[in-house]
Amino acid sequence: MKFLLLKSFKSRLLSPWWILVIDLAIVGNTFILAYLTLPDTSFSLEIKGILTKSIWVILFYLIAYLISNSYKGIIRHSGYYEFRKIFESCFGGVLMLFAVNELFFQNELSSFRISRHIIILHFLLTVIFTLTFRILVKEIFSLITKKHATVDAFIYGAGEMGQISMEAINNDKETRYNVVGFIDDDPGKWNIRLQNRPVMSWKKALSVAEKKDVKVIILAINDISVKRKQEISTSCLNRGWKLKVMPTVRNWIDGLSNQNQIRDIKIEDILGREEIKLNQQRIMEGLEGKVILVTGAAGSIGSEIVRQLLRFPVKKVIMLDIAESSIYDLQQELILNHVDKPFEVILADVTNFHRMKEVFDSFRPQIIFNAAAYKHVPLMEAFPYEAIRVNIGGTKILADLAIQFEVEKFVMVSTDKAVNPTNVMGTSKRICEIYIQALSQLKSLKPAFITTRFGNVLGSNGSVVPLFKKQIIKGGPLTVTHKDITRFFMTIPEACQLVLEAGFMGKGGEILVFDMGEPVKIYDLAKAMIRLSGLKIDEDIKIIFTGLRPGEKLYEELLACRENTLPTHHEKIMIGKVIRYEYDSVNQKVEEMLKALKNENDKLLVARMKELVPEYKSENSLYCELDRELVETNFE
Ligand SMILES: NC(=O)c1ccc[n+]([C@@H]2O[C@H](COP(=O)([O-])OP(=O)(O)OC[C@H]3O[C@@H](n4cnc5c(N)ncnc54)[C@H](O)[C@@H]3O)[C@@H](O)[C@H]2O)c1
Repeated sequence: MKFLLLKSFKSRLLSPWWILVIDLAIVGNTFILAYLTLPDTSFSLEIKGILTKSIWVILFYLIAYLISNSYKGIIRHSGYYEFRKIFESCFGGVLMLFAVNELFFQNELSSFRISRHIIILHFLLTVIFTLTFRILVKEIFSLITKKHATVDAFIYGAGEMGQISMEAINNDKETRYNVVGFIDDDPGKWNIRLQNRPVMSWKKALSVAEKKDVKVIILAINDISVKRKQEISTSCLNRGWKLKVMPTVRNWIDGLSNQNQIRDIKIEDILGREEIKLNQQRIMEGLEGKVILVTGAAGSIGSEIVRQLLRFPVKKVIMLDIAESSIYDLQQELILNHVDKPFEVILADVTNFHRMKEVFDSFRPQIIFNAAAYKHVPLMEAFPYEAIRVNIGGTKILADLAIQFEVEKFVMVSTDKAVNPTNVMGTSKRICEIYIQALSQLKSLKPAFITTRFGNVLGSNGSVVPLFKKQIIKGGPLTVTHKDITRFFMTIPEACQLVLEAGFMGKGGEILVFDMGEPVKIYDLAKAMIRLSGLKIDEDIKIIFTGLRPGEKLYEELLACRENTLPTHHEKIMIGKVIRYEYDSVNQKVEEMLKALKNENDKLLVARMKELVPEYKSENSLYCELDRELVETNFE
């Protein structure tokens, strides 16, 4: 029986027309009830007369129901909105009835005249019975379909989001949670009850949790500071509790809240920082109606830049990458998300001059975001040839074409590893920066060249967070290169928002560096990720130290300190103070380096890099000997 009911509930049990019939039946019956309750003294209680009048009444309510569509919703999902609609449609019906009654049937003896008392009583009874019908269906549905909740949980946040979460849990027949109460930081809310659950302080919740063995907290606050989120998550993790989050309204899938959206807290939630305030107006003006080329569009940074660009009124976004499958995936994602802005996918290699010239010729981009690069430090240490060919060669081709085709803006994505580099990858990016800056000093040229520098982004391809996730899934161990190694982190959206903002500040020629916040110990990150997975460090998963990799620094340079930067109007973006190079000599050295790719070995190529970037000192690398040789030559 229950199975049959469930089956029928899956689809609509009552069609809208059936609901309309039931609603009208209520109107008719409540009219008779009103007559019986409050017999009209001016008439005898004659059945035929009442029936005629009730048809008359039903007709007015029918018109009101048809206009308001109050019968079209699915009853088991009725809420405040539907209940208001019922009230409004009944009100419409009663107004019509009242008006006709007063205008056309003033004669007390008319067989259509209905007393005002009865009209009002009937209206009230209709509203009450129609609402009761909806509530009953809703309750019966939830009684039949509700499974036994298994996990006791607190909802953190007794505001709007907390109550929406509670409703989402209650409305879900598959609910997994039994909400024990709400926790809130506002003392004004303590001791009140919400949806029949107590609201309490964190301290009180701790004692309740101990008594009732509650080990799940659902965080449901719209505007919570990252600091508070970190405090709450640390407290939960230290107690071995599970912390879940209800996404904020803007992140609901299909604009709906339901229990399935409650998800485990992610490391990005904890390490993320306060939301960045962008100068939307300036970015909008800068991007409006423009053709924009994004290179490396399939990568972590490039793809997020594309997503963000498509939110602005751009003319077209050209997504260029050499990685076929990844650019295909991005294309499919945009199609699936019904992105209505025009975009074009180009499968091409930025180091192929002729292909790039064709792209510039066909699309005439006005703005370029250059995020195509090889970025893995150990790999570039092993293959300096590729670092020079792709990172330096690709950037030079794009920058030179940008001048030739009078592009308005060229935004180069660089990295903190370019600051006092210790490896081939960082140095290749520093050479790109030097080349771009030298170009920007040729005043008569069109593109404004902007370089953006920032540290690691959380969750990017091949970075530490996806690596730890894979290691946790495999049962460990988590590999940390050194117990004291630290890194600065940003989320991908945060970094890309700043790239956009930076692209539209300054006159050109600046290196804009981002405030990366506080450094994070990778060992602490590993421990937090194990705990977030509900596992115990050492007992379930071990952490091992594997030793620093070639070219790897223990601590990364602080990008944005007062000594080496100047402020801008954006608190998180600074102008880096760097030495300016003269274009002709830089261009000559870069061209020689690119020509040398044909006949020189890795060591000679790296020596050329060291010549162009004197601050480059190899660390933990076979190229350290080049630094020693250089010192010896200087002493001779
Ligand atoms: N990921 C980070 O943590 C981080 C932090 C700061 C700066 N950056 C910088 O941002 C840039 C992009 O990094 P990412 O994390 O997006 O890397 P990624 O590897 O995810 O993306 C790079 C993209 O460039 C493409 N590409 C490589 N060679 C190409 C070529 N010859 N032609 C066309 N496309 C080519 C790749 O296919 C890839 O899709 C790099 O310069 C990196 O140094 C990255």
